Amino acid sequence: MYSRILGTGGYLPQQVRTNADLEQMVETSDTWIVERTGIRERRIASAEETPAFMGVQAALQALEAAAMTASELDAVICATTSSANAFPSTACEIALGLGLNDVIAFDVAAACAGFSYAYSVAHNMIIAGQAKNVLVVGADTLAQACDPADRTTIILFGDGAGACILGASDEQGTLAIKLSSDPSRGDLLRLPFPKRGVADNSNCYLYMKGNDVFKHAVTVLAKLVNETLELAGLEAGDLDFLVPHQANLRIITATARKLKLDMSQVIVTLDKQGNTSAASVPLALDEGIRQGRIKRGDKLLLESFGGGFVWGSALIRY
Ligand code: ACO
Repeated sequence: MYSRILGTGGYLPQQVRTNADLEQMVETSDTWIVERTGIRERRIASAEETPAFMGVQAALQALEAAAMTASELDAVICATTSSANAFPSTACEIALGLGLNDVIAFDVAAACAGFSYAYSVAHNMIIAGQAKNVLVVGADTLAQACDPADRTTIILFGDGAGACILGASDEQGTLAIKLSSDPSRGDLLRLPFPKRGVADNSNCYLYMKGNDVFKHAVTVLAKLVNETLELAGLEAGDLDFLVPHQANLRIITATARKLKLDMSQVIVTLDKQGNTSAASVPLALDEGIRQGRIKRGDKLLLESFGGGFVWGSALIRY
């Protein structure tokens, strides 16, 4: 038994925050943001656009693409670090929104690498025979977790949700998966929970030592893509597309260069979406498919890196 992607979907909040908007909020410029990150605008969730709400919308699209009904799902896994509650989990709220009952549902917290981790869990549930169809959602609202006065983080993050349905199949869709972490670097990228009974929670914003994170991300991702290709017994030349985590265009181009891929073979969404954390890879995958660039049979390398540090990849035949 193999696992294979049956359908994908995505949801982006209505509100657009441009670089010009950020120029009004902090001391920055469109030129600096575009040159250093490649980001031009990002979406900001309203109070109603919770990770669960966005996850349901993305899931409905994925179900439609897979020509399935929600009742055919055996499990809902949501990668998020923005859950409204510790419990019920965002996955349970998504299951409720889809009208499901008697379904496996839980969240996975692995920051920007969450989708890779959730995908891996779904794949293993399928090949172990525990589930046939698994909804994997990546949903985050990290723009809200940034200090609006901190120009080093507020420019980077956007909100959104992406989803895919991974199903049992005779055809091998998932070719290789690699996950890992370096917990000794946790101090470089942190998002503490607000503390109960404390009047001032102003130090609970997302903190990132950007420059150090950047260097680690480039090094780790270069190693990760090679390890994943090796696990699948493939070479970079066999790949049709790279679907990378959308943190910084310079990180993405460094990984593409390492794989000797032309940028036309790389799905880039960060110019319009910023870094949507766990949503970034499934949103990019969905966009590549909906634009007709990614076709059935294409070999795709999905990769992500985030706070922890954690990182992960999936090499798939779509
Ligand atoms: N506008 C203008 N100037 C700025 C801004 C801004 N928004 N932000 C920082 N600067 C200044 C700095 O203060 C610094 O000034 P100085 O030289 O006078 O001290 C200068 O610009 C350069 O700052 P750096 O931090 O060195 O800039 P860098 O080129 O590294 O770019 C960035 C910063 C974009 C954050 C980059 O380091 C990055 O993308 N890091 C990786 C992010 C990432 O991959 N995160 C992982 C996933 S996130 C997750 O898991 C939740």
